Amino acid sequence: MKILVVGSGGREHAIIRKLKESPRVDKIYAAPGNGGISKDAECVNIGAMDKQGIVNFAKENEIDIVFVAPDDPLADGMVDELLGNGIRAFGPKANAAIIESSKVFSKNLMKKYHIPTAEYEVFDSSEKAINYIEEKGKYPVVIKADGLALGKGVIIAKDHDEAKAAVKEIMEDKKFGDSGNNVVVEEFLTGPEVSVLAFTDGIALKPMVSSKDHKRAYDNDEGLNTGGMGTVSPNPYYTDEIAEICRKKIFEPTVAAMNSENRTFKGCLYFGLMITPDGPKVIEYNARFGDPEAQVVLPRLKTDLVDIIEAVIEDRLSQINIEWTEDASACVVMASGGYPLAYKKGIEISGLDENGQVSGAVVYHAGTKFENDKFLTNGGRVLGVTAKGKNLDEALEKAYQAVNKISFEGAHYRTDIGKTK
Ligand code: AMP
Ligand code: GLY
Repeated sequence: MKILVVGSGGREHAIIRKLKESPRVDKIYAAPGNGGISKDAECVNIGAMDKQGIVNFAKENEIDIVFVAPDDPLADGMVDELLGNGIRAFGPKANAAIIESSKVFSKNLMKKYHIPTAEYEVFDSSEKAINYIEEKGKYPVVIKADGLALGKGVIIAKDHDEAKAAVKEIMEDKKFGDSGNNVVVEEFLTGPEVSVLAFTDGIALKPMVSSKDHKRAYDNDEGLNTGGMGTVSPNPYYTDEIAEICRKKIFEPTVAAMNSENRTFKGCLYFGLMITPDGPKVIEYNARFGDPEAQVVLPRLKTDLVDIIEAVIEDRLSQINIEWTEDASACVVMASGGYPLAYKKGIEISGLDENGQVSGAVVYHAGTKFENDKFLTNGGRVLGVTAKGKNLDEALEKAYQAVNKISFEGAHYRTDIGKTK
């Protein structure tokens, strides 16, 4: 088989590494990929948003399956375009990817189908939003841009001034462009967060092993929200009992709700959950594998990923048995100094071997390029250093040992992955 993976981050590297294990795969392409990915797949210079470019490449190279990994091309209908051209693709169509790309859509879906989530209101003007926040007078309050914002469109405001500034930034200054035409103002929830990714063909849903992301930039959950600074799997707060509640009250109702709306979701559905004192609630949905959740979940997958992808595409997921290892994994993200704000690129990374790896761990490349036999930084999140162990402590110890072997100017990483709620 020939498989084309669309995207260029650590998640895509983890997907490619897993696909490479399949005896059914002869050749993997990445569009556009990155420096580290180029050691595991053939990188082709086509942007992840270039629908026509991807379709043409898939046709010319007789690609068997295109795996669309990032949110933007999914929201933009890349899977629709591929399927329309008779090319098999893994990922939801645009009318289902909206579960991630519009928070207004997902909140209204949850309300309509009684799926537990934070109380909220939607506003199309900053004045109305600010008046509502003032009337309620309850802080902290959560303000979310409706559309995609690189994981940065959520602001938790401590007081009225911060709330007002957040609404203005999103709706008037258009910090996230049209993503901020509407805002969701939401009740602040508390409790540990859990990420659960699930395969679904729109009929069956098979949750993967759980994971935990650390979204804030600095230790002790301080600093700005990022795309994710590190992950562990399994998530220690996700007990079997909670998993069963989630299946009944959240996972299966979500698949059914999307079907009822004629928006059947096929692909990887991501549930961002909070285990509140009132039970698990949905914080957000994503229409794809999480990044860096994929980096800790996929290494624990025993079943051939290609078999699962085909089962999803062919609506026979219920017939396949998916197996996971009993061990644990941890991923520590090494980011550029300054991330998630401005940062430099093109800095040489030392400590990696010629394949971009170190001993004792797997290094998933997120933002690197390979030039003149050197790996250089090329993004905010640079590397996801990942290790497995018989338990979380062992996995974390190995991951941090590997991190210590790698360096680049300004490198920044959290030292408390797996330790905070
Ligand atoms: P999201 O992009 O929706 O996942 O939000 C980013 C992060 O903001 C989440 O991982 C939570 O830590 C936090 N967050 C979002 N919504 C809420 C909420 N209603 N209450 C408390 N924290 C929240
Ligand atoms: N790590 C969170 C996300 O992928 O959205």
